[in-house]
Amino acid sequence: MSFVVAIDGPAGSGKGTVTEALSKKLGLINIGTGSAYRCVALESINQNISVEEKDKIVKMLEDIKIDFEIKNGKDEILLNGQNVTKRIRQKDVAKIVSKISEIKEVRENLNNIFLKISQGKNVIMEGRDIGTCVFPDADVKIYLDATPEERAKRREKQNKEQGIDMTYEEILENIKARDKSDKEREIGALKKADDAIYIDSSNMEIKEVVETIEKEILKKLK
Ligand code: DC
Repeated sequence: MSFVVAIDGPAGSGKGTVTEALSKKLGLINIGTGSAYRCVALESINQNISVEEKDKIVKMLEDIKIDFEIKNGKDEILLNGQNVTKRIRQKDVAKIVSKISEIKEVRENLNNIFLKISQGKNVIMEGRDIGTCVFPDADVKIYLDATPEERAKRREKQNKEQGIDMTYEEILENIKARDKSDKEREIGALKKADDAIYIDSSNMEIKEVVETIEKEILKKLK
């Protein structure tokens, strides 16, 4: 039996930070689904495949290996054995990842990986369509939101800490463009599940968000 917590929401809503904190606090395995999409985007850059070349991207998926690991207490993502945790946050990846995630075969392939990893385990998964498509029967569903401006501020801070060079304006523009394509795409669109708990974190500290969600999880885990 597995226990699944699904956290969906737009880019920069704090899903990643909150999910990492909850996974450590409650011993849940953290599967960052956005990072997996970013790995596919990075591999297409590495192989000089453009986002328009859908067939080549689908073919490329056959040989791609994505692993989630914890090293020295930090979540790491490996692409074909290489640690790409920082690399997948760079501009070039951010620019194409939403387009990559629109490809049906990419979504199917990654969803299968997510299902396999989570079998028989207690997991927390953050993404766009976890509570609606990937795990419609998740035990706890959260939709985490915040205004685009607040989200851009948070990403700017996160990028600075990671040494990623992007202006606030660039980040805000990127966030708005991604919101649009994440919400409007035909499959796996970003949408609140009817039974998800809506949290607007614009004026909340991360700690407060973590505590709010933790309470919901503990209610169901008991
Ligand atoms: O959460 P993130 O910014 O790392 O996500 C990167 C991209 O991946 C984002 O543009 C939407 C896409 N994504 C998706 O389509 N479905 C998911 N479950 C997670 C992310």
